[in-house]
Amino acid sequence: MTWTTASIPDQSGRIALITGANSGLGLESARALASHGATVVLACRSRRRGEEARAELLPAAAAGLEVLELDLADLASVRAGARWMQEQYGRLDLLLNNAGVMGPPRQLTRDGFELQFGTNHLGHFALTTALLPLMEGRADARVVTVTSGAQYFGKLAFDDLQSERRYDRWAAYSQSKLANVTFALELQQRLAAAGSTVSSLAAHPGLARTNLQPASVASSGSRFESLAYRLMDPLFQSAAMGALPQLYAATAPEARGGEHYGPDQWGGMRGGPTQVRIAPAALDPQIRQRLWEVSEQLVGQAAQAEAA
Ligand SMILES: NC(=O)c1ccc[n+]([C@@H]2O[C@H](COP(=O)([O-])OP(=O)(O)OC[C@H]3O[C@@H](n4cnc5c(N)ncnc54)[C@H](OP(=O)(O)O)[C@@H]3O)[C@@H](O)[C@H]2O)c1
Repeated sequence: MTWTTASIPDQSGRIALITGANSGLGLESARALASHGATVVLACRSRRRGEEARAELLPAAAAGLEVLELDLADLASVRAGARWMQEQYGRLDLLLNNAGVMGPPRQLTRDGFELQFGTNHLGHFALTTALLPLMEGRADARVVTVTSGAQYFGKLAFDDLQSERRYDRWAAYSQSKLANVTFALELQQRLAAAGSTVSSLAAHPGLARTNLQPASVASSGSRFESLAYRLMDPLFQSAAMGALPQLYAATAPEARGGEHYGPDQWGGMRGGPTQVRIAPAALDPQIRQRLWEVSEQLVGQAAQAEAA
């Protein structure tokens, strides 16, 4: 039988933080978790858009619903968000690393990283490592990182992770999404080795109708892509369907750390959640460890620069 939001077990007493919760898959994930009893923290870069989402979700929310202003493209904001979680709740059961940006012209985060690698990967790396202490010891705590089919085309260019020598906006997006799944697997291995109560899982939505594509077209100004998305529209499923793999990873009792979930039809573009293939590079332990160490270094340097 197909897994739907009706299959989500009761989430009462659990606290979930979702990045990019004001739009698309994040908004649908927040709706589903809040209506199943979780207290949900909507981590959004715009307080106004976060409050609008909160107002939309409030009637269906069974427990707390709060907005946390958090910009993943600014590591000081990420650190402040983690401190706020510590002070406000002191615990966390589910972290949904969902927010993402796709295909802009080359731009930098506040800390000087290429925008897609900096937001999609480094921002979530920094947030996760800062929040893990709040999750440790919690029963069945989970970190779910949202990837993409783009991971299969991605390459981690360790000699040019910030695309300084050559910027291709799709190669940079694919790199960031490969980094997401690589990070999720390395995190799982480290948590398991430490005997942690936290597990790390990955999920991708297939093709889902959200603001990701319009925002990408708006930033690039590409008329060709605008037309391509219009022609491809029948292939896209709703944001609510696209959110199912990450909701499955977040809540299904049978979902396991180190696994990757995505849609089960049309080569992973549509359908209900099932376990799906992981990009080979993410399965290489040396690549995983190298990405972790580089990310730790970059995030650490940014914190030092801020303190100086
Ligand atoms: N839709 C698809 O077909 C598809 C396919 C594969 C993977 N994905 C992945 O799914 C995830 C969710 O995307 P979506 O499709 O739901 O797109 P979306 O509707 O555009 O939502 C993206 C969310 O990320 C937020 N965000 C962007 N930059 C941020 C930053 N610096 N700090 C904090 N939040 C930021 C956006 O905030 P604003 O509203 O303020 O811009 C928005 O809330 C992404 O990781 C994406 O890569 C989507």
